[in-house]
Formats: sequence, structure tokens, C-alpha cells
Amino acid sequence: MKKTIALLPGDGIGREVIEVTVDVLKTIEEHYHHQFQFQYGLIGGDAIDQTGNPLPKETIETCRQADAVLLGAVGGPKWESNPVFLRPERGLLAIRKELDLFANLRPIKAFDSLLDSSPLKPEYVRGVDFVIVRELTGGLYFGKPSERTTQDGEEGAVDTLFYKRSEIKRILVSAFELAMTRKKQVTSVDKANVLESSRLWREVAEEVAKEYPEVTLKHMLVDNAAMQLISSPNQFDVIVTENLFGDILSDEASMITGSLGMLPSASLSSSGLHLYEPVHGSAPDIEGKNVANPIAAILSAAMMLRHSFGLEEEAGAIENAVKHVLGSGKRTADLAKGGPYVSTKLMTEEIKAALADD
Ligand code: NAI
Ligand code: MG
Repeated sequence: MKKTIALLPGDGIGREVIEVTVDVLKTIEEHYHHQFQFQYGLIGGDAIDQTGNPLPKETIETCRQADAVLLGAVGGPKWESNPVFLRPERGLLAIRKELDLFANLRPIKAFDSLLDSSPLKPEYVRGVDFVIVRELTGGLYFGKPSERTTQDGEEGAVDTLFYKRSEIKRILVSAFELAMTRKKQVTSVDKANVLESSRLWREVAEEVAKEYPEVTLKHMLVDNAAMQLISSPNQFDVIVTENLFGDILSDEASMITGSLGMLPSASLSSSGLHLYEPVHGSAPDIEGKNVANPIAAILSAAMMLRHSFGLEEEAGAIENAVKHVLGSGKRTADLAKGGPYVSTKLMTEEIKAALADD
């Protein structure tokens, strides 16, 4: 199979994890006789430095001409004092909007061999396997107005949480479709006791549910959901929620698996051009030290092979290789709890070796 992959490493450890993920993809290429063409693009702080724009037009073009996009992470202290429109994170919001990547899938799956890396008790974590479906192109992060304002003679600030019915419907349909391939349970998370946007969200969820009689729909308030994720994460199959809630809940949920460095994600559009990225950021605190956990990025590449290219066997092979290496006791620093650990590169070599043995 011949495929073009747009690579947007971005900043900080984004670059480190994408570099090694490409190595893993090259191993897949060889092993399964595919041809992957890699096209690099600038995004984030690096793009600002080189072009003055966190998402240059050429990058969007590179993505549009590719079969899938693989992104590292953006941001860092260097650009922290930049005005909002010149922040690296703007590049991320912009690419989601440009490619209409409205559905962010974040699978949370516990590895048996990592039960001791989670701060939760093993009996809570064992068997956890759910997906957070986060709405990605609407809500608070995109609502207008978002500005400083004055009220009663005092400075304030306003952000707007706005969703159209159609935007809510399409994300709920994605969640129900996904649930049909899984345990057929959808938990829709909102704050319907306070927010009007959540009330509309609930109404639409009920309407969509009627079209999926086999799927059980449960509504849960977001504060309760935050608690339930820790107290009984095993109850969930598919969680669907708006942009901000999904952002917060998925970072929280990452700890179930042991580290943010374990969580992959897929951002899906209706055009068929999807983007894959680790959930974590550019981690300036560990940048350049060859200690970042590359597994989130490598598992994101596996999601790409499955969802964008239909390469189920290859995706499964990567996931099994990761499982095997973790099972053999290898840990990156974030998982090692102060014990011995391997570098980003060594972890990747182990995964490549497990793939080659497959
Ligand atoms: P972060 O996700 O970069 O890091 C949070 C903590 O987790 C840090 O202690 C970091 O060392 C650790 N960590 C993250 N990924 C890891 C990995 N693969 N292996 C080992 N440890 C890992 O979030 P933070 O520190 O809040 O943000 C840093 C920068 O990244 C900011 O500029 C932020 O805006 C940006 N960011 C970018 C995202 C993206 O590009 N998708 C997502 C989240 C944050
Ligand atoms: Mg986040």
C-alpha cells in the first residue's frame, strides 16, 4: 500500500516522539511491504520562529495532499508571553478548524503490566477500556466573543460556550457509531443542571439515541464524571462530551493508565482526512533529555494505520509490540516510579525489535 503521511512534529518532545514514531512506521513499511511517503510541515512555536505564523498555509496544503496527518505537540515557555494570536497553541486550534477535525477519540486502556504505575489501586484499574469522544471544533475554545470587557466600570473577560444543534448531533452520532463496535454504552457528559448549552446537548443526545436502540445512553454531570473516573473507571465504554470537559477529563483519565505519555488520540473529520497525535503536550520540563515516553505517539500511529489506512493487522502488531515490551518490564522514566528506566530511543528500539519478531 502507498500512502502519504503529513508529519507535523511541532515543539519540545513533540519532535522527539515523532522522530522515533517514524522509525516504527519504517519498520512496518519493511515488514509488511508498504510505501509510506513522509512530508514534513511546520506548526506551533517552530512555525512562528520560521514564518511568523503558528500554522503556515504551506502546512495546511501539505496536510490536504496527504492521506493522514501525524502531529507531535506544540508550545513552550519561549512563546508564553506572545500575544494570543501568536501562541503556538493557536496553530493547533487552527488546524482542527481548517481540517474540520470535530471528533477527538481518546482511548483509555489499562495495560495489565502497568497496573503498578497507576496511582489508583490495581483492582480499580484492571480491565479499564473506554474511549473519550471529545468535541473538538466548537464550545468554549472557539466561542465568540472571547475578549476583555468592562462591566460596572470594572475590567472583566468573557468566553462564550456556543454549539449548534448540527455540531452536537454529529459528535453524538460518532459516539454512538463507535459504541456499536464496542460494548454499546454511551455516557454523555454535560452540566445540564446549570448550562443551557448542556440542555441542548442532552436533548440532541436523546434524539440520536432513538436511532440506536441497541445502545444504552446514560447522562452524567461533569463533576460527577470527574469523580466516577477515579472511583469506578470500569463502568465506562464510550464517553462523549464537549470540548473543554473532554480536555480536562481525558488528562485526568490518563492517570488510570499510569502516564499522560501513554495516551494516543485520533481527530476525525467528515472529509476522511484525519489527524493523529499523542494527548500530551510539548513537556518543556523534559525536552531534549531523551526521556519522553514515545508510546502515546507510537500508539497514535497505530490508530492512523487502522482508521485511515484500514491496516488492522499492522495496527494490532504495533499494539502487541508495545504490550510485549511493557510486559517484559521495560519502563520509560514517567512509568518507572523512580526505578530503572530506558530512554525514548531505547524504548523505541525495543518496540521495533518486538515488531520484527512478530
Ligand atoms: P504536557 O502534557 O506537556 O506535560 C505535563 C506533564 O506530563 C509534564 O510533567 C511532562 O513532563 C509530562 N509528560 C507529558 N508527556 C510526556 C511523555 N510523553 N513522557 C513523559 N512525560 C510526559 O502539559 P503542560 O506541561 O501543561 O504543557 C506544556 C506545553 O505543551 C504548553 O505550552 C502547552 O500549551 C502545550 N500543550 C500542547 C498540547 C498539544 O500540542 N496537543 C497539549 C497540551 C499542552
Ligand atoms: Mg489537554
